[in-house]
Amino acid sequence: MKNIKLPAPHFEDHMNIEEALYGRRSIRKFLEIPIEINEISKILWAAMGKSQFRRTVPSAGARYPLELYVLIGNVKGINTGFYYYDWLEHSLEFIDKEDLREKLCHASLNQDFILKAPIDIIIAADFERTITRYGERGTRYVYMEAGHVGQNIYLVCEALNLGTVAVGAFRDEEVKEVLNIVLDPLYIMPIGHKDLNILNK
Ligand SMILES: Cc1cc2nc3c(=O)[nH]c(=O)nc-3n(C[C@H](O)[C@H](O)[C@H](O)COP(=O)(O)O)c2cc1C
Repeated sequence: MKNIKLPAPHFEDHMNIEEALYGRRSIRKFLEIPIEINEISKILWAAMGKSQFRRTVPSAGARYPLELYVLIGNVKGINTGFYYYDWLEHSLEFIDKEDLREKLCHASLNQDFILKAPIDIIIAADFERTITRYGERGTRYVYMEAGHVGQNIYLVCEALNLGTVAVGAFRDEEVKEVLNIVLDPLYIMPIGHKDLNILNK
């Protein structure tokens, strides 16, 4: 399997920021419609890609302790599997071809939208990057930064008429085992086309 160079995130006029804020809500039911590669490109870029100056999110001391992993389940043009987002190259680095969504769903207290979503983004942290600069206070900075990334994902999804939900309830060690990662998972964000026919919990 190969790494995937993502298309540049074009800045078309989807929706203004106020509309995205006003429409934002958590979505836990997804239609079985694939996500487009252009959509993944925009989501990952908005989450914490390269901006005009540094990155689309702030980071205490510019330490950037967060990394993004992506479980690809149903995306046109990208093979199912587990990937790492390389923000500098704006590409998906292939890690494993197994579809890990079911195991991740189990580790997340069986929140079934993690299994059903076409993609799941995992926001994971290397706390040491920030703690070495700021001591224990660095811990709180890392959590704050995950919030910035999570909100960017909510807003870009809304602008693309996709849905997501910030999931914080999971067994940390099991998630690390399933994904075979050393970083600490902070959020899981399933993403897909909104199924608004079924009432959201
Ligand atoms: C830190 C945090 C953890 C959350 N964890 C979960 C979760 O594990 N599962 C879930 O379905 N929603 C989770 N949520 C989403 C909230 O339930 C949701 O934001 C809240 O119900 C308000 O609804 P809204 O986002 O549609 O405005 C979490 C939200 C935050 C901020």
